[in-house]
Amino acid sequence: MENLKHFVIDFDSTFTRVEALDVLCEVSLNGHPNKDSALQKIKEITDLGMEGKLSLRESLEKRLDILQAKKEHLPELINRLSKEVSESFKRNKDFVKKYADEIYIVSNGFKDFIVPIVEQYGINPDQVYANEFTYDDEGNITGFDPDNLLSSNGGKPKQIQSLNLQGEIFVLGDGYTDYEIKKAGIAHKFYAFTENIRRENVLENADHEAPTLDEFLYVNKMERALSYPKNRIKVLLLENIHDHGIKKLKEEGYQVEVYPAGMSEEELSEAIKDVSILGIRSKTQVTAKVLENANRLLAVGAFCIGTNQIDLNTCLRKGIAVFNAPYSNTRSVVELAIGEIIMLMRNLPDKIKLMHEGNWDKSAKNSFEIRGKKLGIFGYGNIGSQLSVVAESLGLKVQFYDIEEKLALGNAEQCKSLDEFLETSDVITLHVDGRPTNKNIFGESEFSKMKDGVIFLNLSRGHVVDIAALKKYIVSGKIKGAGIDVFPEEPMSNNDEFISELRSLPNTILTPHIGGSTLEAQEMIADFVPGKIMDYINTGSTSVSVNFPNIVLPKLKDAHRFIHIHKNEPGVLAEINNELAKHDINVVGQYLKTNEEVGYVITDINKDYDSEVIKNLKKIKATIRFRVLY
Ligand code: NAI
Repeated sequence: MENLKHFVIDFDSTFTRVEALDVLCEVSLNGHPNKDSALQKIKEITDLGMEGKLSLRESLEKRLDILQAKKEHLPELINRLSKEVSESFKRNKDFVKKYADEIYIVSNGFKDFIVPIVEQYGINPDQVYANEFTYDDEGNITGFDPDNLLSSNGGKPKQIQSLNLQGEIFVLGDGYTDYEIKKAGIAHKFYAFTENIRRENVLENADHEAPTLDEFLYVNKMERALSYPKNRIKVLLLENIHDHGIKKLKEEGYQVEVYPAGMSEEELSEAIKDVSILGIRSKTQVTAKVLENANRLLAVGAFCIGTNQIDLNTCLRKGIAVFNAPYSNTRSVVELAIGEIIMLMRNLPDKIKLMHEGNWDKSAKNSFEIRGKKLGIFGYGNIGSQLSVVAESLGLKVQFYDIEEKLALGNAEQCKSLDEFLETSDVITLHVDGRPTNKNIFGESEFSKMKDGVIFLNLSRGHVVDIAALKKYIVSGKIKGAGIDVFPEEPMSNNDEFISELRSLPNTILTPHIGGSTLEAQEMIADFVPGKIMDYINTGSTSVSVNFPNIVLPKLKDAHRFIHIHKNEPGVLAEINNELAKHDINVVGQYLKTNEEVGYVITDINKDYDSEVIKNLKKIKATIRFRVLY
């Protein structure tokens, strides 16, 4: 009997997210003009009691006084409470059911509503210790039984003592009265439950903080729904990441630390040591040196498009998946391109400049509609193809050039040769990626082949265009108008001067690399990147990872998932499967994808397995990282 464990669990704000008397107030005073002020008062009294600043009996009496509740309000209260069970209790319903005989709900609340809720989780009404309402003949709640131990101060320890439990007693609760059990020397350990409310004076006295029931079960090595509690996953977010992203990661239950600025290599090398997820934007360099210290790091989220600030290969070799937001600002770039094409076709940059100088130049000379003109899109990827659709809807004829065979959307046509593309487009807009071989692919030879009076746009990468050649053709008038958003050399910060040969050229729009910079895009990035990271942590899916082999996995159901990342050497899959076979493990699904460097194998297996197998899988020579999910 000595090893027997008993779990004493509080109800209000622990088993359920809410304080039941607050909810009863909402029900009983529904439609009453004083409802809001009454609710406020009840909450204040609850807090004073929970913090140990008001005697329990006083707190109960005062609250019941305000409530004006009746028996007939209870079904609605119970209905509402059953929807307010704490997330981690819902998740771990199997634990509650399995250990129902060892779980005691000890509460200063009322059996009248606690029993119907916990019974749904398999807990016997005999294991619920709480107060009971008293009613008058008309069913009005008049008070509570004053002889019940739980209506008096220090009632919880007395109640538990009277049960004479043999073995270890673990207490889980959010309030001061829960801590009192430990203080009285009855509990083995007191866990402050902070999933719903965090009370500093309770935390100060706790043996351990349990932000969720998962944490409580994890530290006590009990059966649980999640292999690893999310509150143990530390996230470090640098460079002012949009609030949306911070909120999403916090809601997932991670421990999130936020820094407004970037970090130097040295600072980050230190800060990264206990971090599991790192979020950055374009300034922070995630170098091999930083990664040397990143032994807990599972994933890096680049809250931007580019990832050249991250040493992707070292990440890959260490089994760290990198995610970015490749499509989140696609539409923003497209809209700017469309706007610029119209502006340049109408000579607006020059006209606007003249107006600001006091010159009224009303004429149609050199002004054209875009309707019917031939738009040449160079690079038909995410942005190029989206631009194709929007441009066509505005009446442009679209043709494109791409080194790869692409599906032409709508009526767009893929040009067979670059010369044909250059010679026949009225507008040429660049949307290629920034691979090194694309350096200066637009220079003297390309510009010379273009139509006279062509409009030229670059919103891709600066080094793709030979700027001196571009200037020559703008000055000569062959290029009638240009819109340039990206430059071979861009200022490091907003305080540095923008230096370029293109300044002050006619009908030329220069913008500071803002093609994708809109608030909508920022918000979408902040939504997209955490989503991909959470998918990876929760299911192992690596869809759109920049450096990992991409696998989209089904959600895990009634199975355990082994995630094995290894150096791509021959025979590893066979070794994994041999090991599984040796232990008679029933594989319900297996997925493998490799790239040149690593192999990524996911194996879903039936729930029961011998834990020895994990040790052996980790020992396979080429293993980089091994995780178990369930
Ligand atoms: P993507 O990778 O989806 O598309 C690039 C396309 O260019 C691919 O279809 C590829 O096959 C093609 N391509 C590459 N080299 C080529 C060549 N030499 N000749 C012909 N086709 C070639 O890229 P996405 O997302 O469409 O982005 C396009 C560019 O826009 C990138 O350079 C990106 O960095 C830039 N960008 C600029 C922003 C800004 O603020 N101005 C914002 C977002 C992206």
